[in-house]
Amino acid sequence: MDEIKKLVEEAVSEINIAKDSTTLNNIRIKYLGKKGLITLLMKKLKDLPQDERPKFGALVNDAKNVVQNRINEKLREISEMEKRQKYEKMAVDVTTPGARRDIGHLHILTQIQKELEDIFISMGFEVVEGPEVEDTWHNFDALNTPDWHPARDVQDSFYFTENILLRTHTSPIQVRTMLQRKPPLAIVSPGRVYRRDYDSTHLPMFTQMEGLFIDKNVTVKHLKFTLEQMVTRIFGKDAKVRLKPSFFPFTEPSYEVDVWFGNTWLEILGAGMVDPNVFKNVGYDPNVWSGFAFGLGLERIAMVKYGIKDIRDFVRNDIKFLENY
Ligand code: DAH
Repeated sequence: MDEIKKLVEEAVSEINIAKDSTTLNNIRIKYLGKKGLITLLMKKLKDLPQDERPKFGALVNDAKNVVQNRINEKLREISEMEKRQKYEKMAVDVTTPGARRDIGHLHILTQIQKELEDIFISMGFEVVEGPEVEDTWHNFDALNTPDWHPARDVQDSFYFTENILLRTHTSPIQVRTMLQRKPPLAIVSPGRVYRRDYDSTHLPMFTQMEGLFIDKNVTVKHLKFTLEQMVTRIFGKDAKVRLKPSFFPFTEPSYEVDVWFGNTWLEILGAGMVDPNVFKNVGYDPNVWSGFAFGLGLERIAMVKYGIKDIRDFVRNDIKFLENY
């Protein structure tokens, strides 16, 4: 009887510290298997006197049941625990902040371009685009730009052939539009232009917007008024415009235009009254038609407005820079 009690105690303490079902199964085999320690006790039955046999048999059976029940119980505990651990691993902490998805926005130059387009559209201008690969006639000759002009030099422009080049400005769109249409007309033309330049204020590829307004009796006042509308809407109501005499082959007179912004005058664009030779080149009668034109650099406008120091920032694709605008 003592032996039975001892075996049961041993079995139970082994079961208690078991950590998984494999260990429990080994314990079951050790005590209750065919050659198990408790099973073998039954074999001692025949050595006992007849009258003690039933009592002993009952005791061994009880011991078997105790051990088997304890194993079953422990198995349930273990599988409960394993389930709990599995669910804990799977659990989602709903209070964790979600992963942020960064949403992009329009590039600063695209924003400026759209802003300018909106301003000119509101004044009755139409947006017209033209090809980036141009011929020298549209890019230079029709714009009254003679052979000797430095812009025509291979040092300054990107030529494909002697007569085909990447446009050096958006002004050829003036020519193309005048040839296709009849005056009066009012257009602005945004687009990329190309020059052999590269430093903190010049890029080989940059962005311009050309303006052209043609009607009868157009004067410098119309030009100045239009530019004033533009600068006050881009730079704020305190912005002012100043015209300084300058020279462009395709305008006469020509002006450099400054804007009063941030307590100082800053040069932002070129402009002028369309040269009679340009009208002649596109078959318009210069005695009937008059007009103004202007050309501005979008990078320049953005640099002045936001105090950007290096024009190369526009094309570096640095998120830290782009996020600011
Ligand atoms: N095309 C000139 C340039 O790229 C800018 C310009 C100046 C355009 C005067 C004009 C103008 O239409 O009238 O430097």
